[in-house]
Amino acid sequence: MTKAAMGLAATLCLPAIAQDSGKALVERVCTKCHNLEATSRQHNTRERWAAIVDDMVSRGMEASDAEIEKAIDYLARTQGVRLNVNKATAEELAGALNVPASTASAIIAYRAKAGPFKSFDELKRVPALNGKDIESKKDSLDFSQPK
Ligand code: HEC
Repeated sequence: MTKAAMGLAATLCLPAIAQDSGKALVERVCTKCHNLEATSRQHNTRERWAAIVDDMVSRGMEASDAEIEKAIDYLARTQGVRLNVNKATAEELAGALNVPASTASAIIAYRAKAGPFKSFDELKRVPALNGKDIESKKDSLDFSQPK
């Protein structure tokens, strides 16, 4: 296909893709072969999701490049790897919460004193966070208790 033809194909495909949410897309495309049980149990890095979806393409999955990208984005966003707040280092916490290193260190100090965090609400109560809005980070955090 020429570049122009590819551009045209991409343009023509756009409206159809835009109608589909990532969720609807994954449900439509993936369930042609199997249900989403194995998928919904997994949390993976973006790289790992991309490898899985590539594997599905090699098994005969039919989707445009744009749809493939969108499916990977959706899976990485909704089923990414979560940071375990109770095992995280200050550096990891600073990155995940987008807070300064000093705040992250204070969270670690709090955890050392008060014990593992049980919930997001408990984390939010750490004074060092100062009421900072971390709501959007909720889905990237895991509160499993250390064994
Ligand atoms: C053309 C058919 C087909 C389509 C479409 C398809 N798959 Fe699969 N998938 C398979 C087959 C075949 C297996 C292997 C089953 C087994 O291992 O027993 C599999 C296995 C899997 C597994 C478990 C194995 C692993 O690597 O972890 C996951 C997760 C998965 N698929 C996710 C997806 C997702 C997400 C999509 C949509 C983006 C998708 N599949 C679309 C055929 C398909």
